[in-house]
Amino acid sequence: MSEKPWVVTVDGPAGAGKSTLARLLAAKLGYLYLDTGAMYRAVAWAALRRGIGPEDETAVEELLQELKATLTLVPAKDGRCRVKVEGRDVTAQLRSPEVTRAAPLFAQMPQVRKTLTEWQRAWGEKGGVVADGRDMGTQVFPWAQRKFFVTASPHERARRRYRQLRRQGFAVTFDEVLKEVLERDRQDENRELAPLKPAPDAILVDTTGAKVQETVRRMWSYFPRHVPRGVAGGRRP
Ligand code: DC
Repeated sequence: MSEKPWVVTVDGPAGAGKSTLARLLAAKLGYLYLDTGAMYRAVAWAALRRGIGPEDETAVEELLQELKATLTLVPAKDGRCRVKVEGRDVTAQLRSPEVTRAAPLFAQMPQVRKTLTEWQRAWGEKGGVVADGRDMGTQVFPWAQRKFFVTASPHERARRRYRQLRRQGFAVTFDEVLKEVLERDRQDENRELAPLKPAPDAILVDTTGAKVQETVRRMWSYFPRHVPRGVAGGRRP
């Protein structure tokens, strides 16, 4: 009998390289890449569009109920995780500086975390998932078979974010991005619910100055030769 595919978690601060690494690991394993940051961004994006602030708990609750029916994650051919709301692909809009600023405010709301944790667990229920986020190994999938905590120095993370934003056409300065990275670290690490921290059994991976493939090889060395493989992207909860 073949063993059930695993759940692998990749947590860490913004810009540490989690999504690239999680995607590459998912491709190697034939697993689904689950971008949980995109889920929090989608909530913030939808709230901003409606003019709903995090202080309006009732409106946020209604929004969550609506998103339950209209938000879908679509595994793309390139291994990325695309987000659709009401059938419309909003993935690119989720990366805007406005959404980036608003996301942590919604991510600290108990009802948002509870709902998104339920969605994420539904995706991971059958295994075969590499989940990228802040609390995957500590809260959402504490039973995951492999947990990684990926970090890099704040300057390196800001450099990466800056390049990415400029490529996407956002007019930002490096100092602004660095300030935002430090502010997001502070918010993610100090919030009351599911703060960013490594699970006690997480493998620490520092990507400062490291090449992507080198890091993937390092992470891959923590898997047994016969790790159960999945069927890439072929499932939904
Ligand atoms: O990884 P990201 O930058 O796309 O995350 C967007 C926001 O969501 C960020 O403020 C942290 C938050 N987040 C979270 O609280 N828990 C997760 N599992 C993933 C992201």
